[in-house]
Amino acid sequence: MSGKGKVVCVTGASGFIASWLVKLLLQRSYTVKATVRDLNNHNAEHLLTLDGAEERLHLFKANSVEDGSFDSAVDGCEGVFHTASPVVVSANDPQAEIIDPAVKGTLNVLRSCARVDSIKRVVVTSSIISTLFTGTPLTPDVIVDEMWFSDLDVCKELKHWYAISKTLAEQAAWKFAEENGIDLVTIHPGLVLGPLLQPNLNLSMEMILKLIQGSPIYPSPYRLVDVRDVAHAHIQALEVPMANGRYMMVGRVTHDNEILKFLCQNYPAMHLPEKYVTVTLILKCCFQLHKKISEWFSFLRSEDYKYEPTYHVSQERAKSLGINFMPWELSVKDAIESLKEKGFLHF
Ligand SMILES: NC(=O)c1ccc[n+]([C@@H]2O[C@H](COP(=O)([O-])OP(=O)(O)OC[C@H]3O[C@@H](n4cnc5c(N)ncnc54)[C@H](OP(=O)(O)O)[C@@H]3O)[C@@H](O)[C@H]2O)c1
Repeated sequence: MSGKGKVVCVTGASGFIASWLVKLLLQRSYTVKATVRDLNNHNAEHLLTLDGAEERLHLFKANSVEDGSFDSAVDGCEGVFHTASPVVVSANDPQAEIIDPAVKGTLNVLRSCARVDSIKRVVVTSSIISTLFTGTPLTPDVIVDEMWFSDLDVCKELKHWYAISKTLAEQAAWKFAEENGIDLVTIHPGLVLGPLLQPNLNLSMEMILKLIQGSPIYPSPYRLVDVRDVAHAHIQALEVPMANGRYMMVGRVTHDNEILKFLCQNYPAMHLPEKYVTVTLILKCCFQLHKKISEWFSFLRSEDYKYEPTYHVSQERAKSLGINFMPWELSVKDAIESLKEKGFLHF
């Protein structure tokens, strides 16, 4: 579908996902009103070089925690994509630095949207994180789908501030949308990978970098999805008239050692810390000790244990939006090439 003559807003436009979203929207001839926190910060300069930016990209200053900050950016829009949110796992003051900007920011954007008659739909970037923490063990027979909602008590017990922020923000968004007649769709990506358009390193790409460097910052398994699929899903969520509710976006749930094995095979020059690969395998075996001994031996003999996804995430609804998930290997490869090209990885 062509976006010619249509105006949309993207909040947090300088971010990893949003940069791809802006790029694809401009490619489709949309006029894009893009918000950044600081117009003098050079982190949005890459957007100005995108095809179509000169004619159809307009930058606005907006901060999630300032009331009315998004009013001018959403004015006259047909669709609004709200991606801006702190993507960090730790903070000195999690309430002020992670939770408030996510929750108040979402409500702030929706409040601005509620005042604009031309807005037909709002697409909010949520996360797989707002679905996973239910207390149900994630075992191979489990398929996580759009009916899963994270339990705040579970998130709090884990002190997972980011999960709390995304869960609360999503809950607040649905409540506000219902009360104010806003057509809302939420997108729930896993760990987003792929080529970087922005100059800085965002958290999900840093996670892959740290995994390669042998100091992972997030435990396996990884729920991989390509940034281009995620950006595409946002656009489909606006353009497909029947789109509604929540959409899970995970291409593949996989273990760290499967990613490392793939990298060892394709990038021998990377000299991955083999010791680390071995240690992860040993740890995996230890985790299985709780299984009955007989099961454990047949499990070990099966060889599949090393690479079997621990659970599944439903792709049914994402596919109904027109998403054909890219192979995870391509996303990892493109992520590596991009990290190398931008100078974050040397081999
Ligand atoms: N990357 C992933 O793996 C992943 C997975 C699931 C969900 N998500 C969600 O997708 C969205 C984008 O993630 P990303 O990975 O693209 O993140 P990112 O590159 O870190 O970008 C986040 C953006 O949010 C903006 N932001 C942060 N705090 C803000 C505030 N107080 N006010 C206004 N803007 C603020 C930043 O804007 P400035 O640059 O202007 O400061 C930045 O552009 C987030 O909602 C995140 O929770 C990401």
